[in-house]
Amino acid sequence: MKKILVTGATGQIGTELVMKLRQIYGNDNVIASNIRDHLDSPIRNTGPFELLDVRDQVRFFEVATKYHVDTIIHLAAFLSATAEKKPLMAWDLNMGGLLNGLEVARELKCQFFTPSSIGAFGPSTIKDNTPQEVIQRPNTMYGINKVAGELLCDYYHEKYGVDTRGLRFPGLISYMAMPGGGTTDYAVHIFYEALKNKSFECYLEENTYMDMMYMPDAINSVIKLMEADPDKLVHRNAYNVSAMSFSPKEIEAEIQKYIPDFLMTYKVDPMRQKIADSWPNSIDSQAAIDEWQFRPVYDLEMMVKDMLNKVKV
Ligand code: SER
Repeated sequence: MKKILVTGATGQIGTELVMKLRQIYGNDNVIASNIRDHLDSPIRNTGPFELLDVRDQVRFFEVATKYHVDTIIHLAAFLSATAEKKPLMAWDLNMGGLLNGLEVARELKCQFFTPSSIGAFGPSTIKDNTPQEVIQRPNTMYGINKVAGELLCDYYHEKYGVDTRGLRFPGLISYMAMPGGGTTDYAVHIFYEALKNKSFECYLEENTYMDMMYMPDAINSVIKLMEADPDKLVHRNAYNVSAMSFSPKEIEAEIQKYIPDFLMTYKVDPMRQKIADSWPNSIDSQAAIDEWQFRPVYDLEMMVKDMLNKVKV
């Protein structure tokens, strides 16, 4: 990675990833792009920024060519709950944007990263310690996009030799930029409400387990995967990666260690509950550990402590 274009760069992952990439590879070598400008985002005054709607292939080529990029990190996408509400728009953005990104990568011979997700699994997938290779029949638009995306990246690698790489991210917890439209978002919002109001109304049932990871581990894993020896990458598109699995009840209890009068109530949103129920309780990251030494640092305890220190309300 020498000249890196990041799409969806003002989003939850992009904001922190761009900041970290600029530290490592130099401010001018990391081109942030997004469909909308966010002047208050920290990525705006630390390096180049371009407006880019990833559905516009001509513009995608134009931005990538202008900066002579050799790497594309394609993050622009709808998350699970938004995709479920707007399935046609999700197909258009999540698949159309990905295909455009892959075409640019093929033409300009770029290395290419895009995230998959725990959403790529479905109700018929084994739920506990979900293996790397397992049945994937998701029943959400987001999940269908993610499975198709994994396959499309495999296809571009096998057919055209594009150096595609990917991770199946779990819910990501962070404090620099908010997530939007995901099913795992409660695990971020809970901190803001706990600190502001000492209460939080959760839209999932208290015993709903999902995989999660703290953002510093997610950022490090993207960089580590992108820098890994290609010969070692057997499962190059979409490694299972998880750092912890917890339920709303468990994160509530962890927060109560610091804020004893924090009160959690539950008002279940059937749509997001159904999505969460179709995902694994916990996934097995062994392939990532074996093939490129994935090693997350933060567990639930460390993450909660750090979030409560860092979140500003
Ligand atoms: N965090 C994402 C979501 O909830 C999962 O990939 O949609």
